[in-house]
Amino acid sequence: MPATVIVGAQWGDEGKGKIVDLLAQESDLVCRYQGGPNAGHTIVVDGETFKIRAIPSGIVGGVASAIGAGCVVDPDVLVSELDELEGRGCRTDGLVFVSGNAHLIMPWHVALDGARERRLGRLQIGTTRRGIGPAYADKATRIGIRVQDLLDPKILREKIELAAGEKNVWLERVYGIEPFDAEEVVVRTLAHAERLAPYVTDTSLLVDRALRDGRKVLFEGAQGTLLDLDHGTYPFVTSSSPIAAGAAVSFGIGPQRIDEVLGVSKAYVTRVGEGPFPSEIEGEAQQRVRELGAEFGTVTGRERRCGWLDLVALRFAVRVNGITSLALTKVDVLSEFDEIPVCVRYRLLDGEETDDFPANQSDFHHCAPVFETLAGWLEPLDSAPLPRAARAYVDFVAGALGVPVTIVGTGASREAVLTL
Ligand code: IMP
Repeated sequence: MPATVIVGAQWGDEGKGKIVDLLAQESDLVCRYQGGPNAGHTIVVDGETFKIRAIPSGIVGGVASAIGAGCVVDPDVLVSELDELEGRGCRTDGLVFVSGNAHLIMPWHVALDGARERRLGRLQIGTTRRGIGPAYADKATRIGIRVQDLLDPKILREKIELAAGEKNVWLERVYGIEPFDAEEVVVRTLAHAERLAPYVTDTSLLVDRALRDGRKVLFEGAQGTLLDLDHGTYPFVTSSSPIAAGAAVSFGIGPQRIDEVLGVSKAYVTRVGEGPFPSEIEGEAQQRVRELGAEFGTVTGRERRCGWLDLVALRFAVRVNGITSLALTKVDVLSEFDEIPVCVRYRLLDGEETDDFPANQSDFHHCAPVFETLAGWLEPLDSAPLPRAARAYVDFVAGALGVPVTIVGTGASREAVLTL
């Protein structure tokens, strides 16, 4: 199908990168639609490791890559990524496109993100401290600085001076930390302006033309459904819209232009940062899953919290994204368990059981998981077909969601994938 969205169906880190890599090879254009350097993706191509945070990773294989208006761009990160790619022989000119409407993450956003988290203490969100929330906040209050401002030094200077004046008051008076020298920020940002200017593009027009020409366009979300600012587990969310509809908003295309929505879910669940997590594993099995799945953050190195698969949350993801098929990743991580619990319903505080994700935050905070236990397979998944119990696990998930599972991840390597 020409336009496909790949969306995280959980709290991020579902293994979207590997699925995107797989599908990017058959795509003409890969479009990242939200978030910024809070996402991280490591890919290994011909034995070489690339760590990418801003540009869709298809670029490593020479696939055209666009960053949409719904993203926030840290110019330091983007420039160093472009330099690194080029230094290692990957072409970027004519292949990387950055929306002029995307907002810039400025140094004060990073400082404010850290300061606010420190101040919140026990109540902190557990952000990646990359300035994401403060940058999106400035976009919404309309004092943000956009990628296209890089093209006009006069406008850039005016906007930086205006923003710095306001941010410095916050930094000094509210958080008691050093203000920024506006002139230094102007000089530093202008230094990046020349480097980034050739990449600034009308990405709405780019995608529209690609679709009209019958090209295959892949929209790549970062984070995941439950981290969505509107539909996720607020306030323990990111500040953008990872859900599939975010792709249309970010790239300025009509929602009917999207043909397929591929949800990506692990065969279990992980979550970084704070917030309620009904199917979180109790006891030492959690550490076992963490070690077997190497569940440590790519960007922050933090330990990820691990839970058994949560079908209530996944059913919600199918609904809010319009998921048409599902990729179930890291199924191999469960190969060492003789029994595998799956959360099929939530029990609310009043004892009532529900299949539907609670819309009320207190219901969600206080609900308990109702598990059904499936048989494990206790053998490696290194060759097709799947062992019978593993296939039954996959079929159970598909049946409960009413959505086909079309891709199964069976190992860490790029090749360890089965298409059903
Ligand atoms: P922020 O996006 O840095 O503001 O962080 C907000 C919340 O989203 C925190 O709970 C983060 O741990 C979480 N988060 C942000 N990016 C990712 C990601 O790529 N994977 C998983 N969690 C993420």
